[in-house]
Amino acid sequence: MKRIQSSRILALSPAIIALLFQSSWGLENSVGKTPQMGWNTWNKFACSINETLIKKSADQIVDLGLDKLGYKYVNIDDCWNAVERDSQGRMQADNQTFPSGMKAVGDYIHSKGLKFGIYSSAGNLTCQGRAGSLYHEDIDAQTWADWGVDYLKYDNCFNNDVPAIVRYPSMRDALLKTGRDIFYSICNWGYEDTYKWGPQTGNSWRTTMDIKDVWASIQYNFRYNDIHYDIAKPGAWNDPDMLEVGNGGLTLVQEKTHFALWAVAKSPLILGCDLDTVSKESFAIITNQEIIAINQDPLGVQGHCRVHCTYYDIIENRAQVYAGPLANGDVAAVIVNWAYTNLGEFTLNFVDVDIPENTPVLIRDLWAHQDLGVFTNNFTISHFDGYESFSYRLTPQKSFEQVFLQ
Ligand SMILES: *[C@@H]1O[C@H](CO)[C@@H](O)[C@H](O)[C@H]1NC(C)=O
Ligand SMILES: *[C@@H]1O[C@H](CO)[C@@H](O)[C@H](O)[C@H]1NC(C)=O
Ligand SMILES: *[C@@H]1O[C@H](CO)[C@@H](O)[C@H](O)[C@H]1NC(C)=O
Ligand SMILES: *[C@@H]1O[C@H](CO)[C@@H](O)[C@H](O)[C@H]1NC(C)=O
Repeated sequence: MKRIQSSRILALSPAIIALLFQSSWGLENSVGKTPQMGWNTWNKFACSINETLIKKSADQIVDLGLDKLGYKYVNIDDCWNAVERDSQGRMQADNQTFPSGMKAVGDYIHSKGLKFGIYSSAGNLTCQGRAGSLYHEDIDAQTWADWGVDYLKYDNCFNNDVPAIVRYPSMRDALLKTGRDIFYSICNWGYEDTYKWGPQTGNSWRTTMDIKDVWASIQYNFRYNDIHYDIAKPGAWNDPDMLEVGNGGLTLVQEKTHFALWAVAKSPLILGCDLDTVSKESFAIITNQEIIAINQDPLGVQGHCRVHCTYYDIIENRAQVYAGPLANGDVAAVIVNWAYTNLGEFTLNFVDVDIPENTPVLIRDLWAHQDLGVFTNNFTISHFDGYESFSYRLTPQKSFEQVFLQ
């Protein structure tokens, strides 16, 4: 009760809130310097999970070579834990589905060279009604650290209207107290102005409600996630939610666009498909190394909308351009046609993606794995199908004088 009251007092004082979120109070761990990559149970399996599935998926991540591409986190979402805590007040595994306990599951994941992710809610209960962590932050963080947990997804259900800016920093501090580097993934659905406190609190924060395996949801989550693009940075990322590639609700063209957009926006690349049954074509999408390299670029600047960025542009079916700089001076650009209609021609003007006029630019197509040639000022796409996107790496060419003077 005492804690609830002090929370309310904090919530009422903007001056104290401002103080709380000064950067000196920020999350300082060593993880998430590039967007997190891995696999999570929820999008495909929801609550139908068990330790066999987790171990098999860890095996598959390694057997398929996904770990070598950066997919390191094996994240167990809701439904891993019991409703009741143990006699010492600790969270415990659901004894039907995880009979070996979570430490054993984590040990198995680590034995494959992968990282172990777990889930809870900043509320009394998780969304599926298992024990939640509100007011149990310290004991839960320590329990997870004892099990070797490397990643926490922290949801927002059953929060009893306790303000987010009280609930999420208290778990941040509890995780830091354990001394273990645990990636802190805030899942607050973008509520309560997450953009104001997310960067100081978590390694990533959700910007929207849950993604669904339909085109409208991909578009909504992605566009909404663009609004506060400028707050993302190494160690702190906007999160439009996990990937739906391979889950059957999108066409292959839409899956490519979904993956490329997430990559250019430095969004987490958390796979959500069944690795046992994922099609060859979807697998090729999630293993495109040139697209992944855009996402994992060390500069860590979120590509954002540059051309046709209003709601009316969308209704009028105009192609949008999302772009951002890369560490070596290149520019990554994804040009997307959200509509089902063929757009015909589209001309990308290089000044719109921060390349000065009259600079020759080498264009590389990241899906065709081909250089398209050197162009100056603009490049025209001659045919633009419905839902299609083009993903380019633009390399400004140094002039003879620049090379000579160096
Ligand atoms: C574990 O979960 C998977 C995915 O839902 C299911 O196919 C499998 O039958 C389950 N295995 C056991 C032993 O419960
Ligand atoms: C398994 O969990 C249920 C529900 O939490 C509990 O009633 C039961 O005693 C547990 N069984 C064992 C063997 O621990
Ligand atoms: C949540 O838990 C607190 C105690 O930790 C209790 O007072 C409150 O009634 C619970 N609320 C709900 C909705 O279960
Ligand atoms: C593209 O750039 C070229 C060369 O700078 C210029 O002549 C042409 O008008 C531009 N085209 C468009 C559509 O802007």
